[in-house]
Amino acid sequence: MELLEDNLALIAGVANDKSIAWAIAQAVHLQGARVVMSYQNDALGKRVIPLAESIGARAIPCDFTKSEEVDALFMRIAEMEIPLRYAVHSIAFSKKEELNGNFLDVSDENFDVTMRVSCLSFITMVKHCASFMLDNYKVSGERGSIVGLTYGASERPHPHYNIMSVAKAALGSAMRNAAFQLGPDGIRTNLVSPSPEDTLSARGIKGFRHIGRWADGMSMLGRRVTLEEIAETVVFLLSGWASGITAQTIMVDGGASVSGMPPLRHARIIGQDMMAIADEVEGVRPSTSRGQYLDHSGEVEGEGDDVVDELKGSSTPGA
Ligand SMILES: NC(=O)c1ccc[n+]([C@@H]2O[C@H](COP(=O)([O-])OP(=O)(O)OC[C@H]3O[C@@H](n4cnc5c(N)ncnc54)[C@H](O)[C@@H]3O)[C@@H](O)[C@H]2O)c1
Repeated sequence: MELLEDNLALIAGVANDKSIAWAIAQAVHLQGARVVMSYQNDALGKRVIPLAESIGARAIPCDFTKSEEVDALFMRIAEMEIPLRYAVHSIAFSKKEELNGNFLDVSDENFDVTMRVSCLSFITMVKHCASFMLDNYKVSGERGSIVGLTYGASERPHPHYNIMSVAKAALGSAMRNAAFQLGPDGIRTNLVSPSPEDTLSARGIKGFRHIGRWADGMSMLGRRVTLEEIAETVVFLLSGWASGITAQTIMVDGGASVSGMPPLRHARIIGQDMMAIADEVEGVRPSTSRGQYLDHSGEVEGEGDDVVDELKGSSTPGA
């Protein structure tokens, strides 16, 4: 028995065959829905179009920060004349150099682009999808479901996630507000929060290999989850089997987010990897080091030595 109806599923965020969205597209196809995949730009199209063809899906370009491209995507979906019932948002971006720097050094520009791509695009996508799903619900009583991807750093700070943590926290709030607004119209919205996966985006994160091994060690299962396990959870949330679930973030991380300490068998691995992460961030200095308060003579401007001592005491490790 297939879990999904023969309706349309929009999957946004396939970059290549390592993307979480690609695993989801395959699972959604296997479970009986028809797939339309959106991809960010022509450079990615070279990889995405053959993937789409391999599962009989349509591939349509759409940069979700460009309203004319979003309108064109949904125009083409309307022309397909298949009820849009499922949607998956698997999109995020933050500048690589700032992921690898200090949280407090975020630039205005990167704050804006990170929030636009990683949070506002979800709201945009839900708004457009909901107009289709609402019409469908009124005519057939079939209920729509939308799922996004988040990460545990939205709740608990991690190295190298920086302003993306804030964007993911905002994404969680956006998802719950959308669920609140759309629930009476039969539309559900949820997020899935997986363990770190070795994808194109993840490779932009310094020390990702060690972060991945740390996640293996913290997991009660002794490993991170597979892309298939993430995709199957997304399919479940899209399906009628999850008809009572909305406004939730489902952790798919082998229990890592609940482990207070790693299972003891994994402790040594984690210790080694935390040391490696520390080595890799060596050289990153906090933006609030006392140097910024010093004038060229080495004196603190307008303050006495007691302030210098206080600043020394509050400087972060590694400073
Ligand atoms: N890889 C992980 O460790 C991990 C863990 C938890 C959550 N996630 C989340 O999973 C989702 C998918 O990431 P992934 O790991 O599969 O990496 P990925 O690089 O394969 O996918 C990210 C996608 O975002 C798209 N994108 C970026 N800017 C865009 C824009 N302006 N318009 C349209 N698309 C845009 C990219 O083209 C790419 O397809 C993201 O939301 C990510 O935060 C990833």
